[in-house]
Amino acid sequence: MSKTRSATEGQEEQETTQPRVRVPRHVAIIMDGNGRWAQQRGLPRAEGHIRGQDALRATLRAAAELGIEYLTVYAFSTENWARPQQEVEALMELLVSAIHSETPELMSQGVRLRAIGDLSRLPERARQSLYECIERTKDNKQITLVLALSYSSRDELTRATRRIAGLSTEASSRRPTSPRSSSRATSTQPTSPTPTYSYARGARSASATISSGRLPTQSSSSRQSTGLTSTRLP
Ligand code: FPP
Repeated sequence: MSKTRSATEGQEEQETTQPRVRVPRHVAIIMDGNGRWAQQRGLPRAEGHIRGQDALRATLRAAAELGIEYLTVYAFSTENWARPQQEVEALMELLVSAIHSETPELMSQGVRLRAIGDLSRLPERARQSLYECIERTKDNKQITLVLALSYSSRDELTRATRRIAGLSTEASSRRPTSPRSSSRATSTQPTSPTPTYSYARGARSASATISSGRLPTQSSSSRQSTGLTSTRLP
């Protein structure tokens, strides 16, 4: 708890007691376990992905309410391209429909959408939808949602190492000057504080939570190190 002093016009300065909540500026989540969540309930894997979208919506709302500035969601890795073609196509369709159906919500919640990863590998339709949404939400200020699509740890490590070494990250990220300006566009990289990860029991626990649509309480999330939360504040 912290004590703050406030005064309104014509009144004595008053002392009020407010809870002081420390939240990370940037939280990163790995979407995982959607398929298993569905299978464990006798549902098709696709249902798990749909419910994952619901869970993401709830997570984003909560993050915005908490005052988190950046929420990065690792949704689709380069390894995921090796999944059966039908599943990849269904996921890309889900991405397109999620962007379309969620854009009004993003606008009303003040969410700015960005994307990282090798976006050039996305089907044209998905890339177009993504860029349109990025453009439409670019002036929103409440929170930035960063979708990692066709992401790879190799690319992230290269960029992080170059940044630490004080080198330009252009070579590895081939950042386009505008979303449509490059046919080999790889990211719409936000200037965001580095996210802090809790990988100890990270991805699996986080995904279980996300897939089932439950959000951890603040105390349990920091205790369990789920990957939904950060243990290091910027
Ligand atoms: C992880 O579960 C989820 C994915 C690889 C798909 C994420 C969804 C999309 C890219 C489309 C919609 C995007 C958003 C942002 C709503 P899994 O299939 O790896 O589950 P498993 O580990 O149980 O196999």
